[in-house]
Amino acid sequence: MNYELKEGFGSKIGAVLASAGSAVGLGNVWRFPTEVGNNGGAAFIFIYLICIAVIGIPVMMSEFVIGRHTRTNTISAFAKLAPGKWWRIEGVAGVFVAFLILSYYIVISGWTLFYLVESLGGQLQAGRDYSQVFNDFVSNPWQPVLMGAAFMGLTHFIIARGVQSGIEKSSKVMMPMLLLIIGILVVCSFSMPGSSEGLRFLLKPDFSKITASVILSAVGQAFFSLSLAMGCLCTYASYFRADTKLPKTAVGVSTIDTFVAILSGFIIFPAVFSVEGVSVDAGPGLVFITLPHVFNIAFSHLPWLGYIFSSFFYLLLLLAALTSAISLHESVTAYMLEAFSISRRKAAAAVSISCMTLGVACSLSFGVWSDLTLFGLNIFGLFDFTASKIILPIGGIIICLFTGWYLDRKLVESELTNCGTLRFRLFRLYYFIIRYVAPLAIAAVFVQELLA
Ligand code: PFF
Repeated sequence: MNYELKEGFGSKIGAVLASAGSAVGLGNVWRFPTEVGNNGGAAFIFIYLICIAVIGIPVMMSEFVIGRHTRTNTISAFAKLAPGKWWRIEGVAGVFVAFLILSYYIVISGWTLFYLVESLGGQLQAGRDYSQVFNDFVSNPWQPVLMGAAFMGLTHFIIARGVQSGIEKSSKVMMPMLLLIIGILVVCSFSMPGSSEGLRFLLKPDFSKITASVILSAVGQAFFSLSLAMGCLCTYASYFRADTKLPKTAVGVSTIDTFVAILSGFIIFPAVFSVEGVSVDAGPGLVFITLPHVFNIAFSHLPWLGYIFSSFFYLLLLLAALTSAISLHESVTAYMLEAFSISRRKAAAAVSISCMTLGVACSLSFGVWSDLTLFGLNIFGLFDFTASKIILPIGGIIICLFTGWYLDRKLVESELTNCGTLRFRLFRLYYFIIRYVAPLAIAAVFVQELLA
């Protein structure tokens, strides 16, 4: 295949917005506030910011180097750079893990779609028992499957249209929309009575709360949130133009991602603190059980505002999920279409159908198949565990070692400076981090997670 003829992003801003779309997802709006709530608020955020700067950005730059230098899908990228060597396994693992994550990511995304529909229909304003609403929905055999399938349909539609008219164009519309919605929601949330306590929780660090497990959770969250080690950013970087500045793009994407995560905290916590008796560490149910309850009570005097707030909130969650799902899908589709020389439509259809099939199993594991367990985990839990706790950290370490120790230093430097036409003053610091600091830090997370 002639890679020069391969379709790529038409503009630098398109590249940044698409990559930021991959990074900004359920991990920012759903997982980040949950982690903040569970790990003591501002102290966790402080450590998280350090993790993004010290580990996240250098690892992202490395993925960009691999993707843009080879201009091909993740599996072929590793095979091209390390022909006949075992490093190639990382390419396979990256694409495989993207496939696995997409199959359960669509389940949660389907829930988000359901909550948006319920909110728009006024059902979330009815003062119901939200714990029961949630449990009835997720254990229903067909409703969540249908919602997941609708979400997959949207993802498929965008992927099938191609890199420029599908991924780039949709990111250029969805990302600004997402940022606008966040701005509106932050203002609404700040105006709630009692919101200052939520702000204190987010802004005043209590350093005594920092423990090894808080640090390790922050590293894990940074990896998930920045979409690292899953082949997505590597695939997107293969669509970058030759004059795209990799260090600047990595900093831009990480800044947008962190900004959205922290603003999501600014939306959720002032609202949660404005209602008495609601716990901030409600776990994964925070946005599906606690928040509808909070919206109801906080806006009981102005129900129309509650309607707008909750509808915008679930729309935000849906947009964030969609831009990330697109990147997971593209990681696998790009491999299929290049490896089997088939059309994009066929490759996308094969990925959508097979992922949806696994997605049905994941969805049913909250209901009729909940008894089907292995090592005490249902199918959804098993997929999540295998992907995020095993394949991802190992993949992260391999990417660091591959770039820092296997690849020629000149190749890496040349890619990061666009063949010496740009200055990258921090190259030596970057190189030190990627060789020593990042792999050791990820290894520490991996061991801790496995022992936990
Ligand atoms: N970064 C996304 C999030 O924060 O939700 C999740 C994700 C997307 C992970 C794409 C991995 C990926 F390849």
